[in-house]
This record gives sequence, structure tokens and C-alpha cells, in this order.
Amino acid sequence: MAGGGDRCVVGTLHLLLLVAALPRAAWGVSPGAVAWTQEKNYHRPATLNSSSLRRVAEGTNISEMWQNDLRPLLIERYPGSRGSYAARQHIMQRIQRLQADWVLEVDTFLSWTPYGYRSFSNIISTLNPTAKRHLVLACHYDSKYFPEWNNRVFVGATDSAVPCAMMLELARALDKQLLSLKRIPNSQPDLSLQLIFFDGEEAFLHWSPQDSLYGSQHLARKMASTPHPPGATDTNQLHGMDLLVLLDLIGAPNPTFPNFFPNTARWFDRLRAIEHELHELGLLKDHSYERPYFHSNGYGNVIQDDHIPFLNKGVPVLHLISSPFPEVWHTMDDNEENLDETTIDNLNKIIQVFVLEYLHLVPARWRRG
Ligand SMILES: *[C@@H]1O[C@H](CO)[C@@H](O)[C@H](O)[C@H]1NC(C)=O
Ligand SMILES: *[C@@H]1O[C@H](CO)[C@@H](O)[C@H](O)[C@H]1NC(C)=O
Ligand SMILES: [Zn+2]
Repeated sequence: MAGGGDRCVVGTLHLLLLVAALPRAAWGVSPGAVAWTQEKNYHRPATLNSSSLRRVAEGTNISEMWQNDLRPLLIERYPGSRGSYAARQHIMQRIQRLQADWVLEVDTFLSWTPYGYRSFSNIISTLNPTAKRHLVLACHYDSKYFPEWNNRVFVGATDSAVPCAMMLELARALDKQLLSLKRIPNSQPDLSLQLIFFDGEEAFLHWSPQDSLYGSQHLARKMASTPHPPGATDTNQLHGMDLLVLLDLIGAPNPTFPNFFPNTARWFDRLRAIEHELHELGLLKDHSYERPYFHSNGYGNVIQDDHIPFLNKGVPVLHLISSPFPEVWHTMDDNEENLDETTIDNLNKIIQVFVLEYLHLVPARWRRG
């Protein structure tokens, strides 16, 4: 595959110098010599060629996502509500019907909130759970609790129904390729994919360390104390997270995504490059390269979100949050009417290419009908 090819041109001496000079974030270093927990630092994408990029663009279907993934999520779904239960059932049903062998886990716990004890449930969907390393995509499926206002309820379309629907569409569109991860007889891939749908990202009242990030705080602690691979004595599930890609506040027109973290800048640059390549091939609609979604004018100020508990425990993070925030943020207008379908479709293509490249998969031949 494309990613492995140029390893051979790096001579041993150069390799040693590279390791010495760039212990982290260096491209092109053979992983053979490093501990598995360090492999993520040397992981390279397998870049897709233009015919593969076309296939990815053809394979994703925004109408399909809209009707079958997104609409059912556009309900009030704050933790413990009836809508929260319905959203959870919906997410799990959409994943269970796929061919790839997703293992679903619901992580339910009680936490103290300004309204007393409340129940929360994260959903974790994993391919090849015993694989050492996982690329992780995440969103939060809870909506912020607001009292009803003029018979209107808050449905958090960009916050974060759309990001969760994008993850479901990714799993659908890439189902065949993801299935192939498991299809090598008698062999277990070292690197696979995990989807996390957090509950309780939002504060019930006022954002504070005590009133926010209920699901991610709980899951980060739990994963830190769960041995991984199963039976390991000195490594846990957080070591197995190659990269946590958190999607949030997506779906408004003209978003821009800053980069936040130097240690994952090369992955952010990959998103920029994919955006550029898809643009050049005419595969993004209403897209101006003068106003790219992913841009790198220095680093953005870190924004509090579900990645923080993982970041604090050393997990590499890409925080894909539009900044500035959508104009409708935390208003009743964060609804279906104010979403930008074209932008979401374009972002689906970019992120799906990113995931295939990260996992060294090539898109399956796409058949009509
Ligand atoms: C593009 O990549 C695919 C998958 O690796 C390969 O089958 C195909 O031949 C390549 N196409 C070109 C034009 O190089
Ligand atoms: C996209 O999805 C819609 C809704 O499910 C379906 O009617 C349409 O045929 C799909 N388009 C393609 C090209 O598969
Ligand atoms: Zn919010």
C-alpha cells in the first residue's frame, strides 16, 4: 500500500538520525523497532489516488444520512430524558444493521448534577476490540437542557446531532471496507476503528468542571483503568487510542476549523490536503479554496469539550469544532432549518477519506442500485 512504500528508501543511518531528531511526529520511521504504544507517533496515512477519492465522494449519500441518521436525532435528548433513550436506541440500531462487526457497549453510570443524581449512558462502538490500536471518532449525542420556550424545544442540530449523524453515515458508506479489516483469515489487525457517542457533554446550568463533560470524564477514567489489550499488565485502553478525533458544532454554513494541538498538526495538515485534493477534482460543492474549512493560521485557543479528559491523560487529539461557533449556538434556532447540507456533504467526504487513509484501506468499488 502507498503508506508502506517509501519506508524502504530510508537508510538505517538516516533512520537513527530521524529517531534522534524527531522522536515524535516523524514520518517514515519503521515501526518495527518501537513499542506498540509508540507506533501512533510514527503512523503514516496511505494516501488515496484520484480514482479512489472519486469513489469515496460517490459512496457517501447526504440524503441517506439526512433521512435515516439525522432526522431521528433532531429531538430533545438531554441526559435521562425519553428522547435520550430514543436517540441511543436509534444510534445502536443504525450500527447493528451494518455488515462490519461492530461491538456495541453502553457505559451507564450515575452522576451528581445541579438537579440531583442523574443517569448517563455513553455508547462505544468498536471494530476488532482486541486490536491494540484504534483510531477514534467521537461526538456527543445529548442536547443541552433548556426549558421549553414558546412551545419550542432545543434540538441541538449542530450541537451535536450532525456530528453524530456524520459518524453513522461514515460507518454506512465505508461498511464494506471496514468489514475487510476483519477478513484476513486467522489474523487480527493491529489498528482498527472505534466510534464514541458521549452523553452529558452539556452543563445542566452553568459550565464548570463539576457541571459538564459527564460522559467523557467518566469514560476517560474508566478506560484508564481497563487493561488493554485484554490481560495486559502495564497498558490500558487509553494507550490503545491512536488519535481521538472529536467532532462538534458542525452543520452551519461556512465553518472554519482551526488546529489546536502541535502534536497532531500533521493529521490536521492531512485534512487540509484532502480538502484541497477533493476541491481540485471538483468533488466538493460550492467550495471556495480561498475559504477552506481547515486552515492553519497559528493555533486556536483550546476549547472545553469532551476531548479534555482524554487530552489530560495524554491521548493525541484532533478537535474538529467550528470556531467561531455557529451563530445559532445554544439558541432554539440550532435546528434543521439552519443547517447547510452542502457543507455537511463536503465534510463527510473529507473525513471519510481521512479515515480510510489512516486505516490504510481503499474504497470499495461502488455499484449503483
Ligand atoms: C488507485 O488506487 C487503487 C487502490 O489502491 C488502485 O487499484 C488503482 O489502480 C489506482 N489507480 C491509479 C490510476 O493509479
Ligand atoms: C441516496 O439516498 C437516498 C435516500 O435513501 C436514495 O433515495 C438515493 O437513491 C440514494 N442515492 C444513491 C446515488 O444511492
Ligand atoms: Zn452545546
